[in-house]
Amino acid sequence: MSKNRYKGFSFYGFCLFFITICLTSTSAIFVYAIVSRWTNGNTLIVAFSVLATIILGAVVCALFDIYRRKIMIERPVKMILQATQKIASGDFSVKLYTMHDYNKFDEYDIIFDNINTMTAELSKNEMLKNDFISNVSHEIKTPLAVIQNYAKSLQNNDLDARKREECINGLVKQTKKLSELITNILKLSKIENQQIVPEIEKFDLAELVRVTTLQYEELFEKKGLELECDIDEMKIVSSASLIEIAINNLVSNAIKFTDKGGKISISLKEDKGNAVIKVKDTGCGISKAVGEHIFDKFYQGDTSHSGEGNGLGLALVKNIIDLIGGEISVESKVGMGSTFTLKIKKDSV
Ligand SMILES: Nc1ncnc2c1ncn2[C@@H]1O[C@H](COP(=O)(O)OP(=O)(O)O)[C@@H](O)[C@H]1O
Ligand SMILES: [Mg+2]
Repeated sequence: MSKNRYKGFSFYGFCLFFITICLTSTSAIFVYAIVSRWTNGNTLIVAFSVLATIILGAVVCALFDIYRRKIMIERPVKMILQATQKIASGDFSVKLYTMHDYNKFDEYDIIFDNINTMTAELSKNEMLKNDFISNVSHEIKTPLAVIQNYAKSLQNNDLDARKREECINGLVKQTKKLSELITNILKLSKIENQQIVPEIEKFDLAELVRVTTLQYEELFEKKGLELECDIDEMKIVSSASLIEIAINNLVSNAIKFTDKGGKISISLKEDKGNAVIKVKDTGCGISKAVGEHIFDKFYQGDTSHSGEGNGLGLALVKNIIDLIGGEISVESKVGMGSTFTLKIKKDSV
C-alpha cells in the first residue's frame, strides 16, 4: 500500500524551522549587545531594537512560509482539483506526476498515486464495459439476422415442405441460442455482482454427475461418441445447482469439440478432501495460444464451432468454481484431445 511509503516526519522541515528560530534569537541577542553599548543601556531604545529584530525575523519567516505554502500546498491542491474535475467529466486519461521520490512520498504524493490508480482502474472498467457491450451486440445481431432470413423465407407460400421444415428448425435453433446467451449473461453478471448466494446443501455428487451426463445420451448417439464413466460414490456439502451448470458446460464442450467416433471419459474421484471431476475427450484439443484465453468472456478459440455457443461457458464455469471454492485446470494437446479437471471442496461450509 502506498501509505507505507509515507515518511510523515520531515527532517529537513524540522531543521529549517530550528535554524530560523536560532537565527532570529541570535540576531536579537546580537542587536541587544550592540545597541546596549551604543546607547549606554538606554532601555527604551534597546527594547525597541530587539523587538524590531524579532518582528523582522517573524516577517521573513512568514514570507518564507507563504512561498512554501504556494509551492508545497497550493500547487498540488490545484493539480488535484484539475484532475478530479477531469475525472468527474468522464476523462480517465488523467495522470499526476508525484513530486518526490518513491521513498520520500508525502501526503500529496500518496493522493496523486491513489488518483492514478483510480483512473487506471476506471479506464480498465470502461474498456471492459465497452468490450462487453460490443460482444453482446455482436452475439445478438448474428442469430437475429439468421432468424430474419428464415422468417422471410417462410413468408413465401411456394416453399416446399422440406425447405419449410429446414427454416423452422433453423428458427428453433437460433432462438434457443439467443435464450442461452441471455441466460448465461444473466448468470455471469449475477455471480460477478455477488447477487448469487450459493445454496449449500448435502447432496449426492455421483448421482448429479450421472444424471447430468445422461441428459446428453441422444447427442452421444447422434455423433457416435463412446462414453466411459468411472464414478466413485460420494456425497458432498456444496451447491448442487452451480456444480450442475459447470458439469453441463464441460460435457457439452467435450461433445462439441470431439469429432464423430471419438471418446469421452468422465470420472469422479476423491483427493485430499476434494471431489475431483475429470471430463476427458479425444477431440480437436487446445493450442497454447488459445488456452490462455478460454476462460475469458466471449472468447471462442475454434472458429469452426463458433456457430454453436457464445464463448461464455468456461467463463461461467470459472466464476462458479471460484465462488464455491475450488479449482479448474485443463490439459490438452492439439489433435489429441483435452482433459478438464474440476477440484471442488467436499465441504464448502
Ligand atoms: N473440450 C474442448 N476441446 C477443445 N476446445 C475447447 C474445449 N472446451 C473449450 N474449448 C475451447 O475454449 C473456448 C471457450 O469455450 P466456451 O467458453 O465453452 O465457449 P463456446 O463453447 O461457446 O465456444 C472454445 O471456443 C474452444 O476453443
Ligand atoms: Mg461452451
